[in-house]
Amino acid sequence: MINIAIDGPSGAGKSTIAQAAAKRLGYLYVDTGALYRSLGLHALRCGADPGSAEQVVPLLPDAHLTMRHVDGEQRVFLGDDDVSEAIRTPEASMASSAVSAIPAVREFLLDVQRDLAKKNNVIMDGRDIGTVILPDATYKIYLTASDEVRAKRRMLQLQEKGIEQPYEEVLADIRQRDYNDTHREVAPLRKADDAIEVCTDDLTLEESIQAVLDIVSK
Ligand code: DC
Repeated sequence: MINIAIDGPSGAGKSTIAQAAAKRLGYLYVDTGALYRSLGLHALRCGADPGSAEQVVPLLPDAHLTMRHVDGEQRVFLGDDDVSEAIRTPEASMASSAVSAIPAVREFLLDVQRDLAKKNNVIMDGRDIGTVILPDATYKIYLTASDEVRAKRRMLQLQEKGIEQPYEEVLADIRQRDYNDTHREVAPLRKADDAIEVCTDDLTLEESIQAVLDIVSK
């Protein structure tokens, strides 16, 4: 199987770019952030503190998390509830970052991710795909953009979903999540030594997709 790992900070455009590239290559797109987001949402719904391992770990056996692909589009379910939209709120974003620092949560999601990559040609995006989940991925890409560009893009994305959040707040959230994601003890966000870095600051969406496809075709 061909596995393409795309890692990078929040808002670098990973999911949009990876999804489009996967469609053109006919690969399965796997958004691993959606898994952490679903567990973050699960913790919030259960009234738990997403940053507390003692409160979150006992909830894991009841988190019936499934990922289904419908017409190439990934949907995530908690039990029978399609949470694909609910996991995109600012609250769920912060909760996902908090639960993702808990080692048992990462362990819980490891097999789901590896299993998908074993059975399919995938483009998988996340924070630790090239470093931990798929260290032998066929291609590894580290997608970045400056804090400000990422905050502007994220604000527009939220607006499209009808969520209004001031720019300064979006920027602060992005920086806080970057800090959490790069400073956690287990599987922190970092560029794999053999990953190719792509900065999307000055690239259009189409150019960014092309940059990924160029790496794969080489
Ligand atoms: O990619 P995203 O913004 O949807 O990810 C949500 C959170 O999940 C992010 O703050 C960090 C965490 N995450 C992770 O720790 N490892 C991954 N492979 C994907 C996401």
